[in-house]
Amino acid sequence: MTEWFRKRTGRGERNDNKADANPADGLTEAGIREALRDVRDPEIGRDIVSLNMVRQIEIRDSKVKVGVALTTAGCPLKHRITNDITDRLKMVEGVEAVDVDFGVMTDEDRQNLLTSLHGGPTELAPAFRDESKTRIIAVVSGKGGVGKSTVAVNLAAALDRAGKSVEILDADVHGASVPVMLGALGKPNVVEGVIFPIESPTGLKFISMGNFVSEGQAIIWRAPIVNKALTQLMRDVYWDEPDFIIVDMPPGTGDVALTVAQMIPKAEALVVTTPQADAARVAVKAGKMATQAHLKLAGVVENMSYAECPECGHEMRIFGGDGGERVAGELGSRILGRIPILPDATGEPGRCLFDEDSTPARAFDEIAASIAQMKVRKRIQVL
Ligand SMILES: Nc1ncnc2c1ncn2[C@@H]1O[C@H](COP(=O)(O)OP(=O)(O)OP(=O)(O)O)[C@@H](O)[C@H]1O
Ligand SMILES: [Mg+2]
Repeated sequence: MTEWFRKRTGRGERNDNKADANPADGLTEAGIREALRDVRDPEIGRDIVSLNMVRQIEIRDSKVKVGVALTTAGCPLKHRITNDITDRLKMVEGVEAVDVDFGVMTDEDRQNLLTSLHGGPTELAPAFRDESKTRIIAVVSGKGGVGKSTVAVNLAAALDRAGKSVEILDADVHGASVPVMLGALGKPNVVEGVIFPIESPTGLKFISMGNFVSEGQAIIWRAPIVNKALTQLMRDVYWDEPDFIIVDMPPGTGDVALTVAQMIPKAEALVVTTPQADAARVAVKAGKMATQAHLKLAGVVENMSYAECPECGHEMRIFGGDGGERVAGELGSRILGRIPILPDATGEPGRCLFDEDSTPARAFDEIAASIAQMKVRKRIQVL
């Protein structure tokens, strides 16, 4: 439950009114309501109390009757909701029988739900707005294939390990790779036009255009359509206002980068390069584009920096070059980490997140710590 959700809806406030106490068995409406917070709407994935679905609670001796308002009358999940409520309430001491009664939300209720979930039809989701505490880290590079997506998912995992809340937006509409990398190819839940991020088997939540098209299907979209799709993901997805949203960008300095810069002026760019000179040259361009668009640079990551000798641990600079140093120097930024080449990082599902105690995972832990410690510049409000 986010603070934003509570404030906007007034829902999810605790009701500790002891006047509802039933002296016969000690069961209270507040106690039952509290227990119902553990029951989630299966589609939306949020608890039914904060979604304002619990309309009345009646307690008679050891029997509890719960009135639930559904978003649509023919909701196929009635049965599951009934079971979940019954199972949970039977765990409350003193409850012997549970009766669930269904009603339907009014149009106004539904509209309120919609507004509370994504802040109105034309605005960006709260997490992307300037006033939100969520930091947006856009992972950019000039050249393709240098490891942006690998960096995006492993950085997210490292921030998660460090106790930060984090979600991923795969903005690479044509080359969406996050669903495959995280091994979650299903379609997201869409309720009343609100899209819910997918939870991958690792627990990382993300959204990607790759989840809206069939596996293997090529998308041929012109730039305006790509921008529209991306805007939709920033507007119609229920982002939870986590500490960080990591945006996996497409390669290059094109339209998508410009759209992100324009729509999310608070975004910070994390530039990925490999040691080679050609990758570094275009990574500098990507970084310059970001600063020209007034984005802050979070730093530089040099991927595929070296290979570790399995025998002696010696670092072999296979690609040579000093791409990371060069990019950081030319952009006036700094290297946050160097990631070794790992033969295991095959791009196969589940093979892209490095093992927690491996050398690259530790490098990502350091990058995550540096990013988390950065002072975020307050934007100056022009009145
Ligand atoms: N440190 C590494 N060691 C070994 N392989 C790696 C490493 N980093 C990335 N790879 C592999 O290199 C390939 C490209 O990586 P990735 O998809 O992350 O790059 P990208 O910059 O996102 O590419 P694109 O520009 O196509 O979006 C993938 O197969 C990935 O598994
Ligand atoms: Mg990629």
